[in-house]
Amino acid sequence: MRFLHGYIEQLEALDLEPASFDVIVSNCVINLSPDKPAVLHGVRRLLKPGGEFYFSDVYADRRLADTVRSDPVLYGECLGGALYWNDFLRLAREAGFADPRLVEDRPLAIHDPALAERVGNARFHSATFRLFRIEGLESACEDYGQAVIYRGTVPHHPHRFVLDKHHDIATGKVFPVCGNTWRMLHDTRFAPHFQFMGDFSRHYGLFEGCGSRMPFDAGAGGATTGAACC
Ligand SMILES: C[S@@+](CC[C@H](N)C(=O)[O-])C[C@H]1O[C@@H](n2cnc3c(N)ncnc32)[C@H](O)[C@@H]1O
Repeated sequence: MRFLHGYIEQLEALDLEPASFDVIVSNCVINLSPDKPAVLHGVRRLLKPGGEFYFSDVYADRRLADTVRSDPVLYGECLGGALYWNDFLRLAREAGFADPRLVEDRPLAIHDPALAERVGNARFHSATFRLFRIEGLESACEDYGQAVIYRGTVPHHPHRFVLDKHHDIATGKVFPVCGNTWRMLHDTRFAPHFQFMGDFSRHYGLFEGCGSRMPFDAGAGGATTGAACC
């Protein structure tokens, strides 16, 4: 292990080999970065083909007003720099992550009445996403009649494998998947843990109910239980 000191939007300034990382993780830093596209481009450059960016951060349900964005206290509380979730999805796609996957999320309550007043009607979520660096992912979940079977072999996960919020795959059961999900399992470090059925030779239209769409559960500003950052 070695420790490097740098800025998340300037990863190219560090002594790191491009296309050499299986997984890059981050918790509650991107909202603080002044250049979020540079973060996503820098991470993608460092990931191996099939690698993933697995990270938690804070998102807003709307584009925040300048008064909120420039408020130093709200910024320090990881609220003022939060991206509007749909802008995040757009930036991720522009950086080459065609199919961002939401893993889990929870609403963030603001308990301080003065801060709540300053953010106005905006609501916030903490959320974990995974972004795979996989060439050829499509912009929508397409159905090619494919399926996978989880072998139950990921250490500490003998009964199920959770790819994201929409894919909780029970061990031993045939699980139909869209083309993108098939690639996320087949073209990554997860491949040895699955049996794969089908290919891309025949298309059946859009895959119903795949996890490419947003997003967070309703109820922002309520409960604060659950996982994810901050
Ligand atoms: C909310 S804390 C999260 C810390 C840690 N990841 C955790 O989960 O406990 C945010 C951290 O990001 C650091 N930070 C802020 N802006 C940054 C940037 N542009 N690049 C890298 N780190 C940054 C801060 O110094 C702080 O340590």
